[in-house]
Amino acid sequence: MTATPARERTVHHAEATDGPWWRHAVIYQVYPRSFADSNGDGIGDLPGITARLDHLVELGVDALWLSPFYVSPQADAGYDVADYRDVDPVFGTLDDIDALLDKAHRLGLRVVVDLVPNHTSDEHIWFAAARAAAPGSPERARYLFREGRGQHGELPPNNWQSMFGGPAWTRVMEADGRPGQWYLHLFDTKQPDLDWSNPQVRAEFEDVLRFWLDRGVDGFRVDVAHGLVKADGLPDWAGAVTMIDGSDPVDDGTDPNVHNGPMFDQEGVHDVYRAWRTVLDSYPGDRAMVAEAWVEPLERLARYVRPDEMHQAFNFSFLSAGWDPLALRSVIDRSFAANDAVGAPTTWVLSNHDVVRHASRLGLSDPTHRPNGIGHGDEQPDAELGLRRARAASLLVLALPGSAYLYQGEELGLPEHTALPDELRQDPTYTRTDGVERGRDGCRVPLPWEQHAPAFGFSPNGASWLPQPAGWGGFTVDAQRGRPGSTYETYRSALRLRREHRLATGDLTWLPSDPQVLELTNRTVLVVANMGPTAVELPVGARVLLSSDAAQSGTVVAPATTVWAELG
Ligand code: GLC
Repeated sequence: MTATPARERTVHHAEATDGPWWRHAVIYQVYPRSFADSNGDGIGDLPGITARLDHLVELGVDALWLSPFYVSPQADAGYDVADYRDVDPVFGTLDDIDALLDKAHRLGLRVVVDLVPNHTSDEHIWFAAARAAAPGSPERARYLFREGRGQHGELPPNNWQSMFGGPAWTRVMEADGRPGQWYLHLFDTKQPDLDWSNPQVRAEFEDVLRFWLDRGVDGFRVDVAHGLVKADGLPDWAGAVTMIDGSDPVDDGTDPNVHNGPMFDQEGVHDVYRAWRTVLDSYPGDRAMVAEAWVEPLERLARYVRPDEMHQAFNFSFLSAGWDPLALRSVIDRSFAANDAVGAPTTWVLSNHDVVRHASRLGLSDPTHRPNGIGHGDEQPDAELGLRRARAASLLVLALPGSAYLYQGEELGLPEHTALPDELRQDPTYTRTDGVERGRDGCRVPLPWEQHAPAFGFSPNGASWLPQPAGWGGFTVDAQRGRPGSTYETYRSALRLRREHRLATGDLTWLPSDPQVLELTNRTVLVVANMGPTAVELPVGARVLLSSDAAQSGTVVAPATTVWAELG
């Protein structure tokens, strides 16, 4: 390489550093049942989170996103909400969420909460009323009840499949004791889909938004944001529904299983978000929404973040690109082009509660493969290689302009639990596919905090709703804190440098490089992500600021390593 790298192509221009927080925030996903358990029932809770908020400050993130903590029978780990305005006793009380919000705000952290508008729990008061009411009643009209096909209505109204496997329809018994109508559930049978053409549904959710905005939340992560509105007439569809996981990307980073079938990405959904935007805008203090929308191509996804709709959308195209330099570079380019065109910030994400953790995913023989869970008998990831690549991928993410999402535990380099006993699995996907899909439990195992405490400090008495692997002591926060080169300290340094060098609002320019190496500048920082098999040299005079390789020596960038450097 030359002393002064030639500039190639700027794909994103710097923006104001004083824009609203969500344009450049690092947002940490807290999965409440697995973060910290204060009362010893083995399930994490809100007081547990509040007690550990200092961790997020020490780490250096700007905000946290809380997965659902609302009243729920927990058929889908809380994504089946029975009461949107109260806290499930397993997680605490409304006072506990107030205390969490209060402490987070005092610590300078924003708090985003999950909103689940596509479906309720079947134990929601509305659904209980709908079940008890007659076909054609206003109670049924809040959901998608339909007559079955076949001579006696014995066949589902259409051919849609549930995202979790099996049919997307369940038949109810009518008051006379005979099988009657069917209701739609894109997910589990205990998650009936709402009918968003019903004004009552719209009014109810605007009220739910206000309830939480009044309590002081800074925003919402909107679950299945592309699914609320279905195509008129609920037509049959020939495509395969495997939205969440189990899908393999193709070379250009597009995912063949992300689709625009009649249940997703319908035009009418944008009206909902325009209405919500006016609700949020009526509150002080930059409240924000982020769409969980598995929509491609990215230009289509960008329609959710037009100026009068949501603020951000998760970039699942990026997550799906895996460990593939060409795919990553292409998706980064396309992400900036699509989002810059609508004036929205780009987001980046590698892990969440629905996918195999990237420290494991990237250790598979095909590091672009995205299985739906890993279990006994499946290919086991190469843990060392996976972690090495994961750290390099994370330093790439944190060097990019825009907003980044971290999933709890990734700052510890935590792997997937890839050998959970099948009888402990709780994800409905596992049972609904007769075990063909392992499901998402392996990324939801409670966090390890202290090496020598019961349940590694997750709970006071060692209880843990899923078992932590015995070997997790080295991943604990206290084993890594203050240890140079540990994953935890590497994340901390990255977050500090990201702030100091204003990378989140910077400009991104690609430099000419080997196709296996991603080489870019963001403001004055040179970033070299070596995804190829041979080491590369930094330019003469470059000073290493941070490396994903704990054994970094000099200016050599080893394979599966990302280095941040300052040019001399
Ligand atoms: C979203 C959530 C996932 C949940 C599903 C149904 O994709 O992230 O965990 O199972 O929606 O609510």
